[in-house]
Amino acid sequence: MVVEPRDDAYGQLLVAALEGEDVVEIVERQDGFISASAMGPKLYLAPFRRWPSHHRRAIRYAKGRVLDAGAGAGRVSLHLQERGHDVAIDNSPGAIDVCRRRGARDARVLAFDAADVMALARSVVGGHS
Ligand SMILES: C[S@@+](CC[C@H](N)C(=O)[O-])C[C@H]1O[C@@H](n2cnc3c(N)ncnc32)[C@H](O)[C@@H]1O
Repeated sequence: MVVEPRDDAYGQLLVAALEGEDVVEIVERQDGFISASAMGPKLYLAPFRRWPSHHRRAIRYAKGRVLDAGAGAGRVSLHLQERGHDVAIDNSPGAIDVCRRRGARDARVLAFDAADVMALARSVVGGHS
């Protein structure tokens, strides 16, 4: 489900971070775990050279066309679009606004559900077998 702009806390966090505000991300999980971090928003906007090393290693496996599902501020899309095709989707209008303002060429407000992701994964794996 696409998030309504007035409920888009994550998108508002990204817009504020993009505009230079000091922001803190508070995560509250259904199991009661709560965390507060100023590092999360910095990572979401980080250029490739500032990613954790395991993220940099993992992205080497991305080949061909890529759907960046849950793109956030678009750091993965921005990196991959330099190497070819990429489409960024996110159910947060604020996140997609940030993706576009940072230069993502194809960024769309769109929600996925787990079944969509599994079907896509099956079609990709099927295409290579
Ligand atoms: C933790 S952020 C990760 C952002 C980005 N992938 C990164 O690594 O910097 C997760 C993103 O997934 C998006 N998201 C979560 N559920 C979604 C859904 N059902 N459909 C589309 N986007 C979704 C959120 O809005 C958020 O931008």
